[in-house]
Amino acid sequence: MLLSTKFLTFFALFLWSLLAEGQGAEPPTSSSGQSAITGYFPNWLYARYPVSKIDFTKYTHINYAFAIMIKGNTPEWADAQQVETQLPELVKTAHDKKAKVLISIGGWSGCLTFRYGIDGIDIDWEYPARQGAGCNAVNEASDSKNLLSLFQELRAAMDKKYKKGTKELTAAVHVRTFTTPSGYMTDVKPYAAVLDRVNLMTYDINGGWNTTTGPNAPFNFQPGYGDADSFVSAIDNWLKAGMPASKISPGLAFYGRSVTTKSDMSKTNQYQPQIAGQIPKGDSFDAFWQDPYCSKDPGGMSGIWRYGNLRSEGVLTSPTKAASPWIRKFDEISQTPWLFNPTSKTFISYDDPQSIAIKVKYAKSKNLGGVMVWSVDEDSDNGELLNEVAKFR
Ligand SMILES: *[C@@H]1O[C@H](CO)[C@@H](O)[C@H](O)[C@H]1NC(C)=O
Repeated sequence: MLLSTKFLTFFALFLWSLLAEGQGAEPPTSSSGQSAITGYFPNWLYARYPVSKIDFTKYTHINYAFAIMIKGNTPEWADAQQVETQLPELVKTAHDKKAKVLISIGGWSGCLTFRYGIDGIDIDWEYPARQGAGCNAVNEASDSKNLLSLFQELRAAMDKKYKKGTKELTAAVHVRTFTTPSGYMTDVKPYAAVLDRVNLMTYDINGGWNTTTGPNAPFNFQPGYGDADSFVSAIDNWLKAGMPASKISPGLAFYGRSVTTKSDMSKTNQYQPQIAGQIPKGDSFDAFWQDPYCSKDPGGMSGIWRYGNLRSEGVLTSPTKAASPWIRKFDEISQTPWLFNPTSKTFISYDDPQSIAIKVKYAKSKNLGGVMVWSVDEDSDNGELLNEVAKFR
């Protein structure tokens, strides 16, 4: 990512137009210092998940995902027409309930003319100084430093233009701290000084891209098995590097990932050492997907099972009971449930009310500033997961 003055100018123009007050809805007063329950709201779901379904008795912040950075120096919307109606509705509904809306920017590109009265900006760069999607520009030496400049300039400009403490600046970050040429950053205090919160992406830790099965969102990792990353280790990493607990918001996955295995896992209690085969079609919403902005990465099924779909499509007959032929196990190390279908040899690692409750309780015990959800639409209709998340406050 190249941060020229021109880039910052375009970027800022885009953002100011979003932050500017819209019609009607009053922005809520500052919530800094209060615990935040942030939910990411994907803007590509259309009728499947309208704004009216968001439970604002529980969410304090909605991150509207995503404005993307695709070709120029400014973020842009994949479907600007949809945003024009959906975003004002979201902001009005949220403000009526004293919740905030942040625009989440991830990827590359631009549009300059909207006015929405949003409450802040969430930068979701996956990832500075390390390769995410195959086509991303990566500069190991300067990405993390440049990201700090961007945060500092945004913070300064927001505070200059709006009353201090009224607009928030947050970032979605990796389970490890920022990458530098000499390893993971050991001091993130300069970032902490300008950010309201970091949302830790404590999921997608193991999945169908691995050669063995593993937990999507482990509470603890199993030593010697894959990277030493988990909910607990991620919080530790950021705390140790100087991010205050009050600004740390770990992520909770409302979805699971599936893989076809080469062996029958119905008789084991652990993930290891089950050899993974391919990624099957996940729930009924899953479909072949090819990144429209990058042909380097192969297309395919995601294998994703939303928790709500596990419930509505008859895989789980209650939050903790699987319908035959599925069997359900609970892994003691990762503190997450998994499902196995001996007929199709499908393995699903996911989160349920039990595993979410463990994570929420831990986040609370560490006095963290919030928790984050990817994503608001993936819960069961009666909000079984969000009910557990709400106990954070
Ligand atoms: C799965 O893949 C990720 C990403 O490449 C890697 O970090 C992790 O260690 C792998 N897990 C296992 C169990 O090998």
